[in-house]
Amino acid sequence: MSYETIKYEVKEGIGTITINRPDVLNALNMQVLAEMLATIVTAASDAEVKVLVITGAGRSFIAGADIAQMGEFGTQDGLQFGDLGHAMLMALETMDKPVIAAVNGFALGGGTEVSLGCDFIYASTRARFGQPEVSLGIIPGFGGTQRLARTVGMNKARELVYTGAIIDAQEARRIGLVAEVFEPDELMDKVREKANLLMSNGPLAIAAAKRVMNKGVDLPLDSALELEKQAFSALFGTEDQTEGMAAFVAKRKAVFTRK
Ligand code: COA
Repeated sequence: MSYETIKYEVKEGIGTITINRPDVLNALNMQVLAEMLATIVTAASDAEVKVLVITGAGRSFIAGADIAQMGEFGTQDGLQFGDLGHAMLMALETMDKPVIAAVNGFALGGGTEVSLGCDFIYASTRARFGQPEVSLGIIPGFGGTQRLARTVGMNKARELVYTGAIIDAQEARRIGLVAEVFEPDELMDKVREKANLLMSNGPLAIAAAKRVMNKGVDLPLDSALELEKQAFSALFGTEDQTEGMAAFVAKRKAVFTRK
């Protein structure tokens, strides 16, 4: 499939989506969102893809939703745009493979929101995060009012959303938004290392952990623990569990087959 606003490649188990509108710092318009959604759906069902990475071309990750396009929107367009953004991020969050945001530069507005839809965020020292929507007379529309608070806590999220403040990579790490910060020219190599580490673990186990942790966070503790119990016990019926434990006992590396 060919896309105009993103690049997509699959190499050695890693699918990489690169938002590719560097002239506008990879701003998200309807077309980018639709192309991202189509690619995420493809990656989710492609057995070759074990880990998905999202990054941006040039000096930006994603400098937010496309303000030129949004300037023309009425309420109906806003609804459609929000729906598409939510659908794309739900596809990321519910795919049963880990997704890494490799934040190489500006991750503002929709950029922070896309990174929040990933399982974790690795950032270059050039990364900048923030939800500046209120400065444009709107609010975050791709989950920022909800996922940011779930990640960094309501107080910090309120402050970021109400002030529109932009924070650097170290501050984003300090508040728990970013997992690790790397030099710009190291970022993609480090992300590949992290992806390889994920790929050495049981894929069904990671899928189960992702599902239970994402769903459980919105449930009362007893229901969330029930989810965990079901997923935990189900894994004992898998070949991956037999292999993982046999490999440990035999002091060899496990070879998981996702079965
Ligand atoms: N939507 C549309 N175009 C955007 C954009 C966005 N979100 N962000 C940047 N661009 C465009 C600029 O208009 C500019 O286009 P031009 O060269 O035709 O003038 C180009 O990208 C480069 O941006 P510029 O502002 O010149 O770069 P900068 O380094 O001086 O500043 C930012 C970078 C990210 C601080 C600044 O572009 C910015 O504030 N962008 C908007 C961020 C935002 O509010 N996002 C949330 C949207 S809901």
